[in-house]
Amino acid sequence: MFVSNEIVLWYKKNKRDLPWRHTKNSYIIWISEILLQQTRVKQAIGYFNRFVAQFPDVQMLADAKEEEVLKYWQGLGYYSRARNLHYSARYIVNELGGIFPQQYNDIIKLKGVGEYTAAAIASFAFDEKVSAIDGNVYRVLSRIFNISLAVNSGKGKKVFREIAETLIENQQPGEFNQAMIEFGALLCKPLNPLCSECPVLEVCLAYNNGVILERPVKNKSQVLKKRYFAYLFIKSGERVLIKKRTQKDIWKGLYEFPLIEAMSEIKTEELIFSEQWLNIIGKSFELIKIIRPVLHRLSHQLLNVTFYIVKLSEFQKQSFYEDILLSDLETYPVPKVIENFIAELA
Ligand code: ADE
Repeated sequence: MFVSNEIVLWYKKNKRDLPWRHTKNSYIIWISEILLQQTRVKQAIGYFNRFVAQFPDVQMLADAKEEEVLKYWQGLGYYSRARNLHYSARYIVNELGGIFPQQYNDIIKLKGVGEYTAAAIASFAFDEKVSAIDGNVYRVLSRIFNISLAVNSGKGKKVFREIAETLIENQQPGEFNQAMIEFGALLCKPLNPLCSECPVLEVCLAYNNGVILERPVKNKSQVLKKRYFAYLFIKSGERVLIKKRTQKDIWKGLYEFPLIEAMSEIKTEELIFSEQWLNIIGKSFELIKIIRPVLHRLSHQLLNVTFYIVKLSEFQKQSFYEDILLSDLETYPVPKVIENFIAELA
């Protein structure tokens, strides 16, 4: 088909030299794809190189402690992705004899692997003929075929899948899928598509109808939930209190300072007389500094985070928090907002 052939030809000439394109190793491709769900190619390369150097195969990842895996993910957000990688590595080692599944239908059973990722791994590593449709590919297809169905609707997904399946028919699946992704990432870009360089411009229906920037169509997602966090950075000598997040919530498995969460903006006067403050800090403290709200956006939440730097002569007697050496703080996996706070302290 003209469109597929042209895009693959374009890919052969223009593709980037990316580390995960030098391998057919399914484990390595899996790691790269999960990372790429989380971040842009440029940032992913560093994380990818560090991650696969530390955990070069599924056994090494399975043998690692969860905390170590999270440390290699630190700063990327969506830590459940790292936890799922670790969980699935153990599943592969314990239940599948250490052999990475080799077919789409089995790959998709791995925790954290959806349709796109399973298709990417199955086609890149095993040349299975399945279409890997990520955001790039949705955009390319919606433009060339001028599809106004929402990419996140059931009907839309079905139509995009059918078109992609037709396009892949006479192609090498791995190469074709990579070509579509790369074409979307480099040429058919969201805001500034390079239409003047496009090899399929003549047949691009969205271009011919003047609606390039109106494609793809997406249904609006749910409203943002607002949360208000007060982190208590409590120092006593060279020690500081931290705690691991274990509840089913954002940042599970990461460490944080003692936290007081509220439904609305927390006033300092109210906070320092609150029961929680008294429980954690007590009545005798020195409030050194308040770092005013930092807004931190997650996919469906907007966090309003304030840091209170407090000095105590000694910690309260309770086992709820760990007291650790300040100099050891950087060895713990922490959320990005806390990482930024620590960086500013230094
Ligand atoms: N985005 C998702 N998967 C990708 C890949 N394999 N190469 C480049 N960008 C990607």
